[in-house]
Amino acid sequence: MRYGHFDNENREYVIDRVDVPVSWTNYLGVKDLCTVISHNAGGYSFHQNAEHHRITRFRQNGVPLDRPGHYVYIRDNDTGEYWTISWQPVGKDLSEAKYECRHGLSYSKFSCDYQDLHAEQTLFIPIEDDVELWDVKISNRGGQKRDLSVFAYCEFSFHHIEIDNQNLQMSLYASGSSYADGVIQYDFFYEPWTFHYFTSHVDPDSYDCLRDKFLGNYRTETNPAAVEEGKCHGSFELGGNHCGALHKRISIAPGEESRLVFMLGVGPRAKGKEIKAKYSQLANVDKSFADLRAYWEKKLAIFQCKTPHQGLDTMVNIWTLYQAETCVVWSRFASFIEVGGRTGLGYRDTSQDVMSVVHTNPTRCRQRIIELMKGQVSDGYGLHLFDPDWFDPEKQKAPTFKSPTIAHPPDRKSLIHGIEHVCSDDALWIVVTICEYVKETGDVALFDEVVPFANEGEATVYGHLKRALDFSARHIGNTGICLGLRADWNDCLNLGGGESAMVSFMHHWALKAFVEAAEFLGRDADVKQYSATADKVRAACESQLWDGDWYLRGITAKGMKVGSNENEEGRVFIESNTWAVVSDVASPAHARACMDAVDRHLFSEYGIHLLWPAFSKPNDDIGFMGRVYKGIKENAAIFSHPNPWAVIAECKLGRGERAMKFYDSLLPYNQNDKIEVREAEPYSYCQFVMGKDHTAFGRARHPWLTGSGGWNYTAATRWILGIRLDFDGMIIDPCIPADWKEFEIKRQWRGATFHIKVANPNSVEKGVKEVRLNGKPVQGPIPPQPSGSKNEVSVLMG
Ligand code: GLC
Repeated sequence: MRYGHFDNENREYVIDRVDVPVSWTNYLGVKDLCTVISHNAGGYSFHQNAEHHRITRFRQNGVPLDRPGHYVYIRDNDTGEYWTISWQPVGKDLSEAKYECRHGLSYSKFSCDYQDLHAEQTLFIPIEDDVELWDVKISNRGGQKRDLSVFAYCEFSFHHIEIDNQNLQMSLYASGSSYADGVIQYDFFYEPWTFHYFTSHVDPDSYDCLRDKFLGNYRTETNPAAVEEGKCHGSFELGGNHCGALHKRISIAPGEESRLVFMLGVGPRAKGKEIKAKYSQLANVDKSFADLRAYWEKKLAIFQCKTPHQGLDTMVNIWTLYQAETCVVWSRFASFIEVGGRTGLGYRDTSQDVMSVVHTNPTRCRQRIIELMKGQVSDGYGLHLFDPDWFDPEKQKAPTFKSPTIAHPPDRKSLIHGIEHVCSDDALWIVVTICEYVKETGDVALFDEVVPFANEGEATVYGHLKRALDFSARHIGNTGICLGLRADWNDCLNLGGGESAMVSFMHHWALKAFVEAAEFLGRDADVKQYSATADKVRAACESQLWDGDWYLRGITAKGMKVGSNENEEGRVFIESNTWAVVSDVASPAHARACMDAVDRHLFSEYGIHLLWPAFSKPNDDIGFMGRVYKGIKENAAIFSHPNPWAVIAECKLGRGERAMKFYDSLLPYNQNDKIEVREAEPYSYCQFVMGKDHTAFGRARHPWLTGSGGWNYTAATRWILGIRLDFDGMIIDPCIPADWKEFEIKRQWRGATFHIKVANPNSVEKGVKEVRLNGKPVQGPIPPQPSGSKNEVSVLMG
């Protein structure tokens, strides 16, 4: 069953059947202001982070689905009938009204056809202003003049999510609203510097600032009193629940169109007036929208492919990159699942997310890298979850009074957690991320930039990386394998003093990347020292972790093997086996065997399971794993994030058919017509898909904010299509299904454009016979080309 389709020309996903089983969301905003919005225009806005600086309210996990939102009501003043441009919240019968939602890159467009009126509402946030524009167009396609009332409505939130949800005896009286000069201003008594506004390009005929006045008692957004009555009540107050509700009467002649622009923004009334003036020039609205589209086109142009696989092209060229960027720009803490209870950055999540978009968002990536460096402790480990603001002196200027509603900067010492909370993988990711960033940008100076540690002292970025590697080298168990500590990548595998195979493999991977950087920088002593460590790690892994047919996942503190053929449950894991190959630890024979085991025991039509068989009982030696239902999340669901590691491993082995089989099984695009099973958005990877031990096998949950966005992008672009970077060259090494005869890539790198045409006349899965740059054969990686140059690259596989 399908609910929509991909419109690649417009770079949109079109939902033409709007009664989808769960909210299908999109993200608006590319800088500081963000809105998470559903196909029903439900959702919320925040400024900079979703926990604090909340603008509109959202009743998460509520009934009915995804309310409130940023709604536009249309009322026919002759009949009193009303509806919304998005299907919900009024929810007209779908057999009478036709609705559509188009989620585009940083905008969403809702439209409705009802009783000869075509209405559109486009929501987007201009790049240069902290304001969400609601561009509303209503056209009369009938033969009669229409007298209409248009109401734009949103519900304001208390500014911090905690006070929005608790201690209402205080927060209910800490904010106020007022109306003047066409602008509703929402203010916070305790934070006299915080204001939001709601305004429109025309002065309204009536307004409400109080939610309960607009909606009326015992009513909801489905049947607001003001809309039913045909006008707002002019309400405002100090204290209470507030809203932005603006009403305008319009009449539209047959064949004519009327346009209204509403503006929801950050700042006091004066700012609202300035923005109102700016966007009352409708040409400025059009220009901002065009700028936003150009912003994304420019990004997308950095990597575009044309292959025989339409799903891969659609996801790589548009949606997976967009998803990966979303995680980097907004972190993993703003969605309909993460609704603002957490703030800041997860160390491992951010390090990984950054890795995949160094080419399209180098500025934000550099910022994140520095933030992560500041969140590293001088002992080498990363603070598992931290807020970069803690380490930014500018942002630590607390108000001079003790406020009940403001997050006060925590005491610095309390932020530095000890070893008992360290996740053994956290800091290792950043080593490779930084190398990838430098390879992409050529910003070699980053290695020598001095950055303080979270607790004390400072070091160059290069020095920070050494600390991360040294930490892992020091924290090993009796077998020489890295300690598991609180957790490794798998949050539910808590091995403590036991040992983690995955982390040792990762350690080897990070060491190799570091040695490559040290070689490039000519730091010979480090090359020697860290190569020796890498050899030691590899030897320990091969001698301790091979289980006969695959690699162990770890060893508990009591010495029990995890992920062994000897066990009854949790015999094979995806993470250790893929990482044995990704990290270059596994010998060729072991590598093939362990990935065959992944295919044999973990693969399914909806992707690769995290482990097999699922754990059925709690075992505190392993950790939380056994306390999660079978087939859900880390306990043998198809956890999406490690799936692309299997794709990469197969590409390393040269098995293009298998790599594609793995990639295809998880690809949301491929499930566009199976929504009765998948339920979630077909344009976004989800955190997990219910595994075969669960009754809802195939159902996907938690879209957008998952490392699988970035990793699937990496797997497809760098491994299947095979475009990878060295510190001073571009490597072309595809691994594809044998029946791909040819494909093309347009890649920009350091200012130059490369048009890469790959031919595969002999139907191989891997192997490059010849590369020509502008007609001339090249041996080894293609060196950087002059900025602005256009280069033709032809690649012959065989
Ligand atoms: C979630 C977490 C991530 C973790 C993964 C596996 O996606 O955000 O940090 O690695 O689960 O437990």
